[in-house]
Amino acid sequence: MCGIVGYIGKQDAYPILIKGLHRLEYRGYDSAGVALISADGKLNVYKTKGKVAELERFAADKDTSGTIGIAHTRWATHGEPNDVNAHPHYSQNGRIALIHNGIIENYGVLKQMLIGKGYTFRSETDTEVLVQFIDYLRTTNNCSLFEAVQAALNQVIGAYAIAVLDRDNKDEIIAARKSSPLVIGIGDGEYFLASDATPIAEYVKDVVYLNDGEIAIINRNKPFRIVNLNNIESKIDICKLEMNISELEKGGYPHFMLKEIFEQPRTITDCIRGRINVEGTDVILSGILDHKERFLNARRIICVACGTSWHAGMIGEYLFEDLCGIEVKVEYASEFRYRNPVVHPDDIVLAISQSGETADTLAAVELAKSRGAFIYGICNVVGSSIARATDSGTYIHVGPEIGVASTKAFTGQVTVLVMMAMMIARLKGRIDTERYESVLRGLLAMPEKIKEILSQADRIKEVAAIYTYARNFLYLGRGCNYPTAMEGALKLKEISYIHAEGCPAAEMKHGTIALIDHEMPTVVIATNGSIYEKTISNIQEIKARGGKVIAVVTEGDTIVSHMADHCIWVPETDEYLTPLLSSIPLQLFAYYIAVNKGRDVDQPRNLAKSVTVE
Ligand code: AGP
Ligand code: GLU
Repeated sequence: MCGIVGYIGKQDAYPILIKGLHRLEYRGYDSAGVALISADGKLNVYKTKGKVAELERFAADKDTSGTIGIAHTRWATHGEPNDVNAHPHYSQNGRIALIHNGIIENYGVLKQMLIGKGYTFRSETDTEVLVQFIDYLRTTNNCSLFEAVQAALNQVIGAYAIAVLDRDNKDEIIAARKSSPLVIGIGDGEYFLASDATPIAEYVKDVVYLNDGEIAIINRNKPFRIVNLNNIESKIDICKLEMNISELEKGGYPHFMLKEIFEQPRTITDCIRGRINVEGTDVILSGILDHKERFLNARRIICVACGTSWHAGMIGEYLFEDLCGIEVKVEYASEFRYRNPVVHPDDIVLAISQSGETADTLAAVELAKSRGAFIYGICNVVGSSIARATDSGTYIHVGPEIGVASTKAFTGQVTVLVMMAMMIARLKGRIDTERYESVLRGLLAMPEKIKEILSQADRIKEVAAIYTYARNFLYLGRGCNYPTAMEGALKLKEISYIHAEGCPAAEMKHGTIALIDHEMPTVVIATNGSIYEKTISNIQEIKARGGKVIAVVTEGDTIVSHMADHCIWVPETDEYLTPLLSSIPLQLFAYYIAVNKGRDVDQPRNLAKSVTVE
């Protein structure tokens, strides 16, 4: 986590850095800080606990001049979120300043060594150790900042994206990465650097994504260079950024999350555009077509993901096993990477990640790769680390997701999984034309159906108002709506801080049912489908124990509507497409409860959007 941003050029760095920090604040908001070198060669470092707005207030009457600077918004790993632990950190002689995203695992040993050399430390962070170590190497080896950074990183164990300034050289920033993202924007006599492209997009279109083990030497008077840890010069691979700046603004909505929920009719359209033909008779994903034999002969599909993306992977399990006849395993990336998993060369590993930067998912990909599996990515952020580490993939193309709680990325992931399952089932000759076309037409109709649900937002708000003060919630679903129920529970937990548990409806009677009483509401997804009747029995079991039921049902439902305390209706669709509809009221329900409780919806406590640490 953490957002890092840097600028060197002709303009005043401070406003660019602050704007960049606001764009990256979704990555962490424990503290914020900035380091600038003024024209008269002073290194000014300002940092405060709290959000970027706090930093702005703090720096309002300070000298923020300078055309070179670095800035950071933190998600603490080592040391509590306070002013001292905030980045940038600087060497004790006040010469070198550094910002860092990641964890230096061997910081303890290095710290002891430096203490032995007379260094003292102000903070509890691993990051301060790195900046002092760089300074130590620079002075003892009497070398340049680049050489000192290179030497230090060769001895460091862990993950990092860093940017480093030397007070005595206001023409240069040194930046480097390993396992944490870093992108550099190249302008006319100016350079931008950031954890992702959002702070850069409004200034330049040409960007370079730094690879692991690379160090960038960004000097305003010399050509831009990238050299790796072994001192080999890298080729500079310039990519074109395609990002619409308006997507980075709230566009009149009170929160990004609400905007992103309401964007879903459009984001699903964007996701299927050019993939399903207008007649709804065919779907083509080039990522699969290019590796057709792999998919036809796949022994298993192993989904690796975290959080919401893991829930999408679970929906994939229902789709691929039933429609394609391929065995599926769904793994928490964090567990998979530390087990000794059996991975065969004819397995396909599906890495699902909105950000494309989740450290555990990236590590799971690397592990599966080392065991010879074929890796297919389902990512949103173009050019992200996971997207680049895969053999092939399909982008969900839902545009930047800024709210920490994932919404439109989930429906984008499910849409891609449905398209994949359809295409593989067709290639394997396992689906008849009627069902194939009916699912594809169902996907084409999805945006209109989601609009219909969104038009009921006020009603969902009313239901949310009734349940705002419940302390625990149960979410139930069956089949592919079981993962949807877990996703609904996660949304509520994340942004309202109410405990919620997702459970397969039928599993409830094996334990969870003991929790049911009049104080514990249950949200049940009871849309039409093969196991509708069974879900009805589960609702009866809750009602018999005095529990309150909020049901998501299909339009025209008369049975559940009479049993449930409150109902939210979604349009009829193919059973495998129901998660795309039933997830929408659950997103809105969680959103309105969180707003009623006065929570910080877009930046809930303790969380960060992009989890680039283990
Ligand atoms: C979603 O609401 C969460 N904030 C979180 O669980 C997220 O889905 C998870 O961290 C995975 O992120 P990724 O999709 O970017 O890999
Ligand atoms: N380890 C650093 C700190 O605690 C950076 C954390 C991060 O990247 O999330 O400040």
